[in-house]
Amino acid sequence: MKIIDLRSDTVTHPTSSMYQAMQQAELGDDVFGDDPTTIKLENLAAEITAKENGLLVPSGTMGNLIANLTHCSKGNEVLLGDRSHIFLYEVGGISALGGLFPHVLPTLQDGTMDLNHVEESIRTENIHFPRTGLICLENTHNYCGGLPVSTDYTEQLCELAHRVGLKVHLDGARIFNASIALNVSVRELCKSVDSVMFCLSKGLSAPIGSVLCGSTQFIEAARKNRKMLGGGMRQTGLIAAAGIVALNEMRSRLIEDHQHAKMIADSLAEFNLVKINRESVQTNIIYFNLNAELIEPDKVIEAFYQRNIRFLYLGKSKYRMVTHQDISKEDVLKVVAAVKEILSGLTEQ
Ligand SMILES: Cc1ncc(COP(=O)(O)O)c(C=O)c1O
Repeated sequence: MKIIDLRSDTVTHPTSSMYQAMQQAELGDDVFGDDPTTIKLENLAAEITAKENGLLVPSGTMGNLIANLTHCSKGNEVLLGDRSHIFLYEVGGISALGGLFPHVLPTLQDGTMDLNHVEESIRTENIHFPRTGLICLENTHNYCGGLPVSTDYTEQLCELAHRVGLKVHLDGARIFNASIALNVSVRELCKSVDSVMFCLSKGLSAPIGSVLCGSTQFIEAARKNRKMLGGGMRQTGLIAAAGIVALNEMRSRLIEDHQHAKMIADSLAEFNLVKINRESVQTNIIYFNLNAELIEPDKVIEAFYQRNIRFLYLGKSKYRMVTHQDISKEDVLKVVAAVKEILSGLTEQ
């Protein structure tokens, strides 16, 4: 019996053409800089994001950390949203390993930060102040329901930053979802930022890896920081081969994941006991709340588990489902049926 695993798009397994590409990949040693498949992936990533160069990294977390370390000096302040992945879920790495000081601004409901607030928060020269070293943006915004952030906003933020000589790093773990949802190219979404990290191992279904892209000078320094963090790997062509397939074959199908997420969100919204903002379901992430005083989270999770459906309880009555390549239309219909059956049962109790 198939498990319908909606915990994250990171659970996706490689496709058969990825396995085939991995088997046939031409390999070298990437620390020596001569793995041809990795070089091919990095060039492709740079082209897609309108940057000069790319760097394959083991994870999104390491890509974001390397970007922060590379753009900043120890003691610098980093401006970022209080709901950003870097602030919430990356173990405080920028402080622990980079000596960087997070200056958090409220993340607005649409995943952005107020531009006036950003401008006011940039430090002026004063003996008492740390130097502002970087501004980080996230697109799509995970905590804000996978909302895509517009090119307009990205450009305004970059214009503001560049005016005072500051750089902008984009956590674009799911930038391809943003591109599909907004119907704009990844190139457009990334062209004004100074660096971008995107993940191969989420909706694009590759087994491992993210790519950090930026100027040639930035990537050269980032490569050294990757080595320092222990992220210099050898026959990375194996990973890169799957990554190339991910970029060439898996991008356009993301629209299906978005449609599937909408179908599930609509079915949840039929129940008064569910709190869900349907407008915020624009990509592949669905957040919803069920009053924990009325319905025990363990029972909800267990009822779906019994039907081979898995998703996450995040605490404080909040749940998350994420659609992806391994969730078919048939699976979605099963989830919709389970939602109806389980939630009707709970309403009647
Ligand atoms: C927005 C965002 N950035 C970064 C990451 C980190 O990626 P990884 O799990 O590959 O470290 C994630 C992971 O879910 C994410 O959602």
